[in-house]
Amino acid sequence: MAGRVLSVASECVPFIKTGGLADVVGALPAALAPTGWDMRVLLPAYRKLLPLLDQMTPVRSDSSLFGGESRVYFGRIDGIDLLLLDAPHLFDRDGGPYSGPNGDWWDNPQRFAALSWVAAQIARDGIDGWKPDILHAHDWQAGFAPAYLRYGNASDVGSVLTIHNIAFQGWADVRLMSDLRLPADQFHPDGLEYYGNLSSLKAGLVTADKITTVSPTYAEELMRPEFGMGLQGVIAARAGDVSGILNGVDTTVWNPEAEDHPFSAKSLSGKAKARKALCDEFGLDVPGPLAIVVSRLTDQKGIDLLPEAIPAFVAAGGGVAILGSGDPALESAMRGLAAFHPGRVGLRIGYDEALSHRMFAGADAVLVPSRFEPCGLTQMYGLRYGTLPVVAATGGLADTVIGVSPATLAAGSATGIVFHPTDAISLRQALAKLVSLYADQKTWVRLQKNAMAHPVDWQASASAYAALYAGIVR
Ligand code: ADP
Ligand code: GLC
Repeated sequence: MAGRVLSVASECVPFIKTGGLADVVGALPAALAPTGWDMRVLLPAYRKLLPLLDQMTPVRSDSSLFGGESRVYFGRIDGIDLLLLDAPHLFDRDGGPYSGPNGDWWDNPQRFAALSWVAAQIARDGIDGWKPDILHAHDWQAGFAPAYLRYGNASDVGSVLTIHNIAFQGWADVRLMSDLRLPADQFHPDGLEYYGNLSSLKAGLVTADKITTVSPTYAEELMRPEFGMGLQGVIAARAGDVSGILNGVDTTVWNPEAEDHPFSAKSLSGKAKARKALCDEFGLDVPGPLAIVVSRLTDQKGIDLLPEAIPAFVAAGGGVAILGSGDPALESAMRGLAAFHPGRVGLRIGYDEALSHRMFAGADAVLVPSRFEPCGLTQMYGLRYGTLPVVAATGGLADTVIGVSPATLAAGSATGIVFHPTDAISLRQALAKLVSLYADQKTWVRLQKNAMAHPVDWQASASAYAALYAGIVR
């Protein structure tokens, strides 16, 4: 065995998911297993997860954890060695992981500081005879964990902080410092201070041994003011410890040969059937390329550009099926777009994993016009399904899609359409290119085959994490 890793996060597939963070945290244990790293995942026992405790064993208890009693349970569930932090005063409530009916939970700093505190304790003391060599913290929710380790002088454990999205920084009022068990003497610009208050993400950035993010391009972008969202200086100051490791996708879950109408690069006829079924499901009749959008409907994802760019695409024969939820203003803009283009633009507001599979299987292209994208998973599903990605040249999108040009076509390497900058004009031009490529079916099929041959699994990235861990083992 190469070593042991405690992964700590707020989301993990198949237990709780709001975005790609969950997919990645859920995929890492199995991806790392062949490299010899044994990973356990620590999550909060949200109300929805409480039934799992019946299948688990209590392995730790605290009489006072940020205002109440808590226990940690362990069990192997759905192939994952899972630790759940049961702290009813923090996590047993109706609503999502971060917010309830009235917006963000008021005590999010305490809730996730508690998770991070327990992670650091487990890393330091071990749990039920299992002691990790590495603590791997994900995003702001686990950002205090490396800090507690550092300030608690637990010097036999290495730490890694992975940034999945810098837009969420774990802001907390400075008056919470002692409640959050943070040392007062660390309140300075090179320590915990962040614009006069606290940020759990910054705390992790200044205390973890290594910082990673989920693509090489985003690792560079993060050091620039346009992308760093205030933390660019902190990250740049640690440039030597920062790296970008691309996410992979679970190729057994995202497998065109396992869909309702199976297909492969060798035989694409199932894809034509899937396309027909998808058009029927959305009530669409599309002579040109059928594109999809499967996304949180937020500003990050460039969804506001669609109403400006789609009409010309529709006029040229294209169609779009949209699945997503999020910002109410964007939801209503999507409703307007669909209402205005009956038979060409279809919409489902909501979250539907099974439908998303049918969409990737049946569509010709997937649109990802993000303003920033740390990695992005849907363009990789697109590659795997010969559903050509049309993406903005940013972050992981730039690292995973090779844009069509005379040179990449000649070299047989092109896998999609890459546009820049992220604005409506560029998206409109990219969609015009999509229409003309689709009209040339010989080239189109070649592109589909290139895309399907592009590796999107975890293999290379699992090795990269394994090497990173090995470098900081004490
Ligand atoms: P982010 O984490 O920023 O939302 P990613 O591309 O990394 O972006 O991951 C998003 C994940 O959530 C993907 O697995 C995508 O398929 C899924 N997803 C997003 N919205 C929906 C939806 N409405 N229905 C089903 N799956 C969705
Ligand atoms: C974040 C990012 C997304 C990334 C995901 C998993 O949600 O927005 O780009 O793929 O985390 O790392």
